[in-house]
Amino acid sequence: SLPSFLLTKTLHFLLQIFINNEWQDSVSGKVFPVYNPATGEQICEVQEAEKADVDKAVQAARLAFSLGSVWRRMDASERGRLLSKLADLVERDSIYLATIESLNSGKPFLPTLFVDLQGTIKTLRYFAGYADKIHGTSIPMDGEYLTFTRYEPIGVCGQIIPWNFPLMMTAWKLGPALACGNTVILKPAEQTPLTCLYIAALVKEAGFPPGVINILPGFGPTAGAAIASHMGIDKVAFTGSTEVGKLIQEAAGKSNLKRVTLELGGKNPNIIFADADLDLAVEQAHQGVFFNAGQCCTAGSRIYVEEPIYDEFVRRSVERAKRRIVGSPFDPTTEQGPQISREQQNRVLEFIQSGISEGAKLECGGKALGLKGFFIEPTVFSNVKDDMRIAKEEIFGPVQQIMKFKTIDEVIERANNTDYGLVGAVFTTDINKAMTISTAMQAGTVWINCFNALSTQCPFGGYKMSGNGRELGESGLKEYSEVKTITMKLVAKNS
Ligand code: NAI
Ligand code: MG
Repeated sequence: SLPSFLLTKTLHFLLQIFINNEWQDSVSGKVFPVYNPATGEQICEVQEAEKADVDKAVQAARLAFSLGSVWRRMDASERGRLLSKLADLVERDSIYLATIESLNSGKPFLPTLFVDLQGTIKTLRYFAGYADKIHGTSIPMDGEYLTFTRYEPIGVCGQIIPWNFPLMMTAWKLGPALACGNTVILKPAEQTPLTCLYIAALVKEAGFPPGVINILPGFGPTAGAAIASHMGIDKVAFTGSTEVGKLIQEAAGKSNLKRVTLELGGKNPNIIFADADLDLAVEQAHQGVFFNAGQCCTAGSRIYVEEPIYDEFVRRSVERAKRRIVGSPFDPTTEQGPQISREQQNRVLEFIQSGISEGAKLECGGKALGLKGFFIEPTVFSNVKDDMRIAKEEIFGPVQQIMKFKTIDEVIERANNTDYGLVGAVFTTDINKAMTISTAMQAGTVWINCFNALSTQCPFGGYKMSGNGRELGESGLKEYSEVKTITMKLVAKNS
C-alpha cells in the first residue's frame, strides 16, 4: 500500500477549486470527502464547487475568451506547443498520476500506467498536433464572389466527466477543446477529482493563460446542472449515464441552446461464430466485459454465441472468470479492483439478483468479496434471454451474459434490438460474415476479432441513446468549432 505521508504531503496543495490559474476555496465553504474504493476509507476532503463557483468560473473563462485576449491572439502553433507541454508534464509525472488514479478509482496500478496514462498522453499529443492545422476552404460559389470558411472556436465549453476513466476523460475533453481555441470549465466526477486536480496544477506549470482551463470538483445536481443550464456557456460535453445525458440536453434546450455532445451508456453485443478462433474469442470476450471491473461504456455485456459452440464457450468462459485475480490495485498480479463505490457495488449486486430470479443460470461468482472495499466476484450467467434485465440494462460491473443464436439474420436483429448503439464486436474467420455483421450493426464502432481496440486517431461515439456526436479523431475535433462562411462581392474596376 501507499505511504500515507506521501499522499498528505503531495496532495496538500491541490484539494481546491481551480479558477483563473488560482486555487480557491468554495464560495459556500463546503468540502466533500473522497474515498479509496479498495478500503472504503476516506483519502481527503476537497473543496466543493456549486452554482456560485460555476458563475465565477464562467466569468474567468469568458474573459479569457474575449476578443483580443492573450488566448484569442495566441498563435495556433503556440496553442499546440502548450498542449504538447502539458502532455510532456503528464509523461514526466506518470508514475505519480497512475498512483493517485489507482488509489482514488480502484483501478489496478499497472494497467492504469500502461493504458490510462498512455491514452492520456497520446490524446493530448494528437490534438496538440492539430492546433495549427484547423482551417477552412475556399469555395467556388456562384456569382462574382470570393468565399472561404473559417473554423472558429465555439467559446466557453462546459465539460462533465465520469469516474471510470478520470484521466483519460480529462484528456479526451481538454485536447480537442483547447486545440480549437476554446476555453473550458471541467467538472470531474465527485468520486474521482484527484488526478484531474493534479492536471490543473500541470496546466498552470505548462503556462496556459489564466481562465483558459478551470477545474471545478463538485456534484452533478449542483455544479453539473449549473454548467448545463448556464447562459454564459456555449457548449456542453458530457460523458456518463444516459439518464443524466437526457437532463443535460434538456437543460441546454431550456437555457441557451448550447451545443451538446454526449457519450452515454451501452449494452454492447459481441457475436461469436462457430468458425471463430475459440481461444481468442473466449479471452477477448472475457476482457471485453471484465476490463476495469466492468465499468466501461464499451463493455461487451451481451455475448451471442452460435449454437454448435455454445456449451464449450460457456465452459471456457467460466473457467477463465474463475481464474480472474481480484484484489488490491497495488498488487501487480491483480486483474480486477473494486467497484467505484458502495452505491455502485449494491447496484451491480441487485442486477445479479434480478438475473437469478428471472431464470438465468449463474455459472460462477455473484457475491460481494471481502469485508473492506467494494469488490464483486467475476460473475458469469448462461442461458440468458433477451428480455431479462441483465440482457437489456447497463450493469457496469463484472457480470457476463452469454446467449445462444442460430442464424446470422436472427443475431443481427437481436443485436440491434436495443436503445443503445455504442460499440459491437464479431469473432469469425469468414470475411463475409465479418463484413455483413459490421455493416448491419447500429453502433458507432465495430471490432472484428478484437475488443476495446480504441485509439486516439479513431472517432468514438454512439448511435441512438448511446450519445450524440463523436470524440477523438478528426470527427472529435470538429465538435469544437463553429464554421463561419465569409463571402465578399468582387467589384470589378477599370474593366
Ligand atoms: P452519472 O451520469 O450520474 O455521473 C456522471 C457525471 O455526471 C458525474 O460527473 C456527475 O457528477 C455528473 N452528473 C450527475 N447528475 C448530473 C446532473 N443532474 N447534471 C449534470 N451533471 C450531472 O453516473 P453515475 O450515477 O455515477 O453512474 C450511474 C450509471 O451511469 C452507471 O451504473 C453506468 O451505467 C452509467 N455510467 C456510464 C458511464 C460511461 O462511461 N458512459 C460513466 C459513468 C456511469
Ligand atoms: Mg448519477
